[in-house]
Amino acid sequence: MATGTRTITVTVDSVEYTDPVEPRMLLVQYLREVLGKTGTAIGCDTTNCGACTVLFDGYGIKSCTMLAVEADGHEITTIEGLTPDEGLHPLQESFNACHGLQCGFCTPGMIMQSASLLAENPHPSDTEIRAGLEGNLCRCTGYQNIVAAVRTAAEEGVPR
Ligand code: FES
Ligand code: FES
Repeated sequence: MATGTRTITVTVDSVEYTDPVEPRMLLVQYLREVLGKTGTAIGCDTTNCGACTVLFDGYGIKSCTMLAVEADGHEITTIEGLTPDEGLHPLQESFNACHGLQCGFCTPGMIMQSASLLAENPHPSDTEIRAGLEGNLCRCTGYQNIVAAVRTAAEEGVPR
């Protein structure tokens, strides 16, 4: 192990990994560069966009704002883990059906934060959906279709 590295053990998408990491490595870098979980995107360097959102012990967090060493002993779910082996997650279905997506940068983060929101509040109002997604930016859809997608998934029921 290189000098200064720390060994972490994390569960990502139901698989346990043990890896040496530099203390300065961000969680998003660990997910993308070490584990190859490139569905988690990097859309800014200012903690503004939410493209890097993953579930951390079930709660949506921005993985560019956390160090990999802080994830030691915790459970992470990425967009790859949310996606079933066959077909799509209900949120992926509703984003598709409601045209809540155009690009691959914001969409994974939007869906992960929506999953976090619906786990806490299975039947949010449109105002609550907007508040729940306020940390996730999209420059394309005007948010109307994203809100509709989350509302539709909530109405159809999202597995917890
Ligand atoms: Fe994390 Fe933008 S890449 S908030
Ligand atoms: Fe990705 Fe708008 S669809 S930024």
